Amino acid sequence: MAQVSGTAEVPSLGRRQFMNLLMTGGLSATALGALYPFVKFFLPAAGGSGAGGGILAKDALGNDIQASTYLTAHSPGDRSLAQGPKGDPTYIVITEDGALEDYGLNAVCTHLGCVVPWNASENKFICPCHGSQYDKTGKVVRGPAPLSLALVHAQVTPEDKILFTTWTETDFRTGQDPWWT
Ligand code: FES
Repeated sequence: MAQVSGTAEVPSLGRRQFMNLLMTGGLSATALGALYPFVKFFLPAAGGSGAGGGILAKDALGNDIQASTYLTAHSPGDRSLAQGPKGDPTYIVITEDGALEDYGLNAVCTHLGCVVPWNASENKFICPCHGSQYDKTGKVVRGPAPLSLALVHAQVTPEDKILFTTWTETDFRTGQDPWWT
């Protein structure tokens, strides 16, 4: 009796992994029920937030993240995923003082594009696909990944949102020009 209608678009591997990570990070059943708009949200290009080319960090449901609420809910040292520039999964980093770190990390592995989970007990990002490892700043410390995770600037806006902007300066982890620009 039941029919399958339509041709739902299948998100890429990286996006599916991103969603899995977000869901295992605490999405409720209610949020799972809203999966379709979530997936749909990631398909079109996300809008910017101003002339500076930045984008506001968004949660799994596509809502702008409220910085004060987020900082209250996340522990010092936390690294959790949000939607960042170009819809890429991007880590919001909390300092040891409980403030927003001034950089975020693109979670896409520089080897073959898996989304790299944060491993708090190891204090590293460890890619499940081929074992690459990145330190807490996203600097690659074990291959096969050839490069560190891409950086973005992160800041709290006057409207209490989290703004990601392009990192064009020297990579403070390597002392080299950014490979991602
Ligand atoms: Fe991350 Fe291969 S995709 S190690």
